[in-house]
Parts: sequence; structure tokens; C-alpha cells
Amino acid sequence: MFLYILALVAVWFIYRWLKEIKRVPNKGDKYVYITGCDSGFGNKLAHHLDQLGFRVIAACYTEMGETQLKKLSSERLNTVSLDVTKSESVSKAAAFIKTLVGEKGLWAVVNNAGVSVPSGPNDWLNIEDFKSMLAVNLNGVIDVTLSVLPLIKKARGRVVNVASVFGRISPFGGPYCVSKYGVEAFNDCLRLNMAPFGVKVLCIEPGFFKTSVTDTSLVKSNLKKLWDRLPQDVQEDYGKVFLEQTLEGVDQRFGQLTDGDLMKVVGCMEHAVAAVHPRYRYSPGWDAKFFWLPMSYLPTFITDKFFLNNTPKPIKSVL
Ligand SMILES: NC(=O)c1ccc[n+]([C@@H]2O[C@H](COP(=O)([O-])OP(=O)(O)OC[C@H]3O[C@@H](n4cnc5c(N)ncnc54)[C@H](OP(=O)(O)O)[C@@H]3O)[C@@H](O)[C@H]2O)c1
Repeated sequence: MFLYILALVAVWFIYRWLKEIKRVPNKGDKYVYITGCDSGFGNKLAHHLDQLGFRVIAACYTEMGETQLKKLSSERLNTVSLDVTKSESVSKAAAFIKTLVGEKGLWAVVNNAGVSVPSGPNDWLNIEDFKSMLAVNLNGVIDVTLSVLPLIKKARGRVVNVASVFGRISPFGGPYCVSKYGVEAFNDCLRLNMAPFGVKVLCIEPGFFKTSVTDTSLVKSNLKKLWDRLPQDVQEDYGKVFLEQTLEGVDQRFGQLTDGDLMKVVGCMEHAVAAVHPRYRYSPGWDAKFFWLPMSYLPTFITDKFFLNNTPKPIKSVL
């Protein structure tokens, strides 16, 4: 009986592997618009798809990002300047893309641009902190998608949204998890809305990877900055020792969890863009597969106990 089940599982994996290995034809006719190409996953994906023969439209936040990317890519790759928080910039990029793709339409948009700070306990933050991150990580994703959706419908193409495991579980405060839960929700309803038009909507939910988003000096300096501006009564609720332990925890946890192999994420993005049968969801990273996602299915009282026992406690904690 056991061997029977093992054989069935093996057959299932082989079937899935064969199904997923096929790639779309005519890459040279397919335009792929990627946001946040200055660094990290977006930068690597732009190079990778360019090498595979796609017509990449790499949106960069900075001029330097555009110049560096152009230097190292083929003539097929176009760059465009984009700030996803500014609708004018988003519309200007969409107009440029429309003239570029013509009647073919746009094969895919990869909503990759994102930021990770300001992040901290919710009562360390104000509404402007939330607005600034949501403007990039959530409203930016929605604005960019809507700006090119007619072109994607024309090509019966794809929308690839980069969320995070923190769109599935929320172990720390601040706008990051809020923004990524929002991306998941937008992704899921758009997938249903677009299915009748032959447009596929796919979601990438990476674990911890070594990029600017997880840069410990950035995360720690952000926490210190938030601490310094706190009113005295909130500082007294937490105590300086809370800040010190949190900063140590950033070094320790990020050191343990961050994976330096960005190709694990880029490979999933490429599959979402190029496979004939892409997956609805990708969870690159061992921490995503074996820790965060299984945790997300556990009852709240278990996950709360786990996180509360494994994070620093405020000095006035009653737990
Ligand atoms: N690294 C991880 O562990 C991890 C895990 C899960 C999900 N993610 C998600 O993956 C995506 C890519 O992040 P990454 O890890 O590759 O970090 P990254 O290297 O910082 O990439 C983010 C990119 O977004 C750009 N950007 C920032 N604000 C922008 C704006 N207003 N308009 C347009 N572009 C903007 C950044 O430009 P500058 O470099 O010029 O600032 C950068 O090129 C993000 O959505 C992130 O939330 C990352």
C-alpha cells in the first residue's frame, strides 16, 4: 500500500514537471514590463528575460538604474523612468509602452517595485508612515496594472504580482504586511476578473532574500529613527532594552533566514512569465515553504503564542 502511494506521488510529480516545463513560443515578439529594475529581483529578472530573448521594458526608479541596466543588456531591452507612487509617471510609462508594443499588446507586467521601511510596532507609527509604504507596495501595484491592462488583454497576457510570505502571515507591525495582504487580495480578484479574457494573474510570495529590502542596516536605522521620535510615555511603555533586543533580533534573524540566491525568486518570476502552464502561486525560499506558509495555516492561538514567546517584550508587558 505504501509503495502504491509512493508511486502515485512520483507519477504526479513527473506529470507536473512535464506540464510545467513547456515555455511559450516567439519570445522575440513578447514585451514584458517590469517595475523596480534598479536592484534586487527586478534587476536580475530584466537581465534574465533579456538573455532568454524577451522584449524587456525595464522600469527604473533612478536614472543611474536605467544607465547601468542598458550598459549590460541587449538592444532589445528598453528602459523607462517610473515612480509608481505618481500617477503621472505611471501614465507616461503606459503611453510609452503603448507606442512600443503596437498591435501585439503587452505580454506581461511584473509588479515588483517595493519598499520595506518604515516598519515597527504599530504604536510607533503614524498614518503618514502607512500611506507612504502603501503608495508604493499596494496603490503602485494597482495603478501600474490598470494602466496597462487593456494592452495585456489584447495580448491575452499575464499579470505577475510580487507579494510576500508576509501577505499570508503577519508577525510584525507596520504597513509592510498590510500592503502585501492587499496585493494578495488584488491579485486574487483580478485573477477571477481576467480569466474570461484569457489573461493569467500569478502571484510570487518569496521568503527572506538578501536584497536592499532586507538590508539590516536600513531596517535597524529605521527602528532607531522611529524610537527617537516616540513620545516619552510610549518609550517608557517599551523601555530602551526592548529597542536593544529588537535590534539584536534583526541581526540574528535576518542572518539566519536571508537566502543569497536571488535566482530562486527570479526563476519563479520567469516561470510565471514564460511557462505555458504557470502556477497561480509561487513560494520561493525554504523559509517560505517550510516555516511561514505552514505557520499561516495554524490556529491563531498557536501562532500568537509562538511569536510572543520569540520576540522581545515591552518593559510594561503583562504577559
Ligand atoms: N527581499 C526579500 O526578502 C523579499 C521578500 C518578499 C517580497 N519581496 C518583494 O520583492 C520586491 C522586490 O524587492 P527586492 O527584494 O528586490 O528589493 P530592492 O532591491 O529594494 O528592489 C525594489 C525596487 O523597487 C524600487 N522602488 C522603490 N520605490 C519605488 C517607487 N516609488 N517607484 C518605482 N520603483 C521603486 C527600488 O528602487 P531603488 O533601488 O532605486 O530604491 C528597487 O529597485 C518588493 O516588492 C519586495 O517587497 C522581497
